[in-house]
Amino acid sequence: MSHTTSILIASLPLAALIHGCTSSISAAPGDRGSKVSPAVAAVTDAPATGTRVRHANGAVAADSKTASEAGVEILRAGGNAVDAAIATSLTLSVTRPYSCGIGGGGFMLIFVEATGESRALDFRETCPKHVGLDFYAKLAAPASGYDPSLYGGRAVGIPGQLPGMIAAHEAFGTMPLEALVAPAVRAARTGFAVDADYLAAVEKVRSLRKAHPDLRPTSRWVWDNLCHRGAIEIGDIIRQPELAEYLEKFGREGIAAWSGPDGIAALLTGVDRAFDGVLRPEDIQDYEVVWRTPLVVENVFDDYEALLMPPPSSGGIAIAQVLAMMEHRLPSAGDPLPGSAAYSHLMAESMRHAFADRARHLADADFVDVPVERLLDRESIKRAADRIDFEDVLATDSCGVIGGGPADALRDSGTSHFSVIDSRGMTVACTLTINGAFGSLVAVPEIGVILNNEMNDFTTIPGESNLFGLKQSDRNLPEPGKRPLSSMSPTILLKNGRTSVTAGASGGPRIITGTIQVLLAVIHGGKSGRDAVDAPRLHHQWKPEILRLEAGLLELRPDLEATGHVVEETGGVGVVQAIVVHEDGLEPASDPRKGGSAAGW
Ligand code: GLY
Repeated sequence: MSHTTSILIASLPLAALIHGCTSSISAAPGDRGSKVSPAVAAVTDAPATGTRVRHANGAVAADSKTASEAGVEILRAGGNAVDAAIATSLTLSVTRPYSCGIGGGGFMLIFVEATGESRALDFRETCPKHVGLDFYAKLAAPASGYDPSLYGGRAVGIPGQLPGMIAAHEAFGTMPLEALVAPAVRAARTGFAVDADYLAAVEKVRSLRKAHPDLRPTSRWVWDNLCHRGAIEIGDIIRQPELAEYLEKFGREGIAAWSGPDGIAALLTGVDRAFDGVLRPEDIQDYEVVWRTPLVVENVFDDYEALLMPPPSSGGIAIAQVLAMMEHRLPSAGDPLPGSAAYSHLMAESMRHAFADRARHLADADFVDVPVERLLDRESIKRAADRIDFEDVLATDSCGVIGGGPADALRDSGTSHFSVIDSRGMTVACTLTINGAFGSLVAVPEIGVILNNEMNDFTTIPGESNLFGLKQSDRNLPEPGKRPLSSMSPTILLKNGRTSVTAGASGGPRIITGTIQVLLAVIHGGKSGRDAVDAPRLHHQWKPEILRLEAGLLELRPDLEATGHVVEETGGVGVVQAIVVHEDGLEPASDPRKGGSAAGW
């Protein structure tokens, strides 16, 4: 069924396949490289739509040019994909401070092509010890009526970013931490230029401060230092000297700079409590990352094998379900291609099934039973797909692969995804988050770090939707140490044991739907990475019952409305970064929706 002709199906080392390239990079595990020179030479930016770009030795697709180049700087210095991912993550903390950072967390999916090993690192924020099931239900509303799980100290989950970087480094890193922090330190000290996406985040802070004057003290540091009190334009330079100094300290001292006796636990939690939060130093000191086994789904679509993030991500299961439903039903629809009404209807109905399951069944599997095997059972998925009617939409309550359970059961600048592939095919898909734009708006001025508002990803009040309009079940209520359900979906598709394409996104629930469409555009639509990322997308999350179309799909509106969909235009369905492995090299693609730019060498 696949229309793809350009995906790599080979068993030779990547570098050897590319134009007879004889790369000499790839440091042996345990090797410690030398410190990276600040000078970055000959990094190639991914060009605009339609231009052909291939890299022989490695590539990084992040939603910030500086961050993509930081990763490539490390690859060029001999680092592997995990080294590059650490450098890219820390640089994103600097250049996309409203999307991710040291005050947040994330997921990193790692595939070591040389050995076939795959691992999933969960460094997601967790619920503090002093927050229980009914914490938010019992809170009195703040004076201006904002949601305390969204802004201020009570919105903050225990951050996991730096423990995550240390865990990844200890397991796979080959270069000294000091070298890996160097690009981020440079970006924080010399500054970066504001772009349109940054300005949009500043506008969100402006409007929040206007609507909720009681959030002005909370957001003062962010507003003064990162928003220049609203007097800010594209091209203005943002410098973060406090963050630069702290990152340097982290590079020298490692995790001790975070949770050690001379770390920042008391400082950070003191700020949180000053804004009504309940974080205690022991929350920071006791935080643990979790190494998880990735979901591995063979033949998820044609002969592609999927490596997916397990719970507390909801994205891995949803992506596997939708890909399998699409494969099962596309032939009976005449094998339509992306952009057609039939394809869009099938996609939307498959998404409705997957999001119904998400709402009813998914949460942190370390705390509640999540029926992962049943949700991924191929026969159940096929039966759900068989119920999709090309003449009508499914009734709301009949959506879901396994159905059952009551569920009433979804915007976002606070997340950032990037992908890395090195010369040996080692692949990293990593999604970072502080949840909403500028997270909780609470900052730790001494170190220039913004604290997340990930607590809103829990079901904070039973029956009510979260920031993204997502209805979630009581399984996802907060409990000390629990991780909130996430849509982050770092994904790697393999063919014959080798990476073919890796993708992931930011955008709340649109992470899932954006990632699926880019993957399918490559493996089913035969598109290049560039064209797959640029192509217009749709989004359906079951509730509310609205099919959202990007402008480029609006011509399908009459057909889709005739089938029964309630259709609305949307400004964007996620921000997807992907790397496609072609026979003649790596093609990284960053999403123009956020103004990102990929790099490689
Ligand atoms: N904060 C977005 C997510 O984890 O889904």
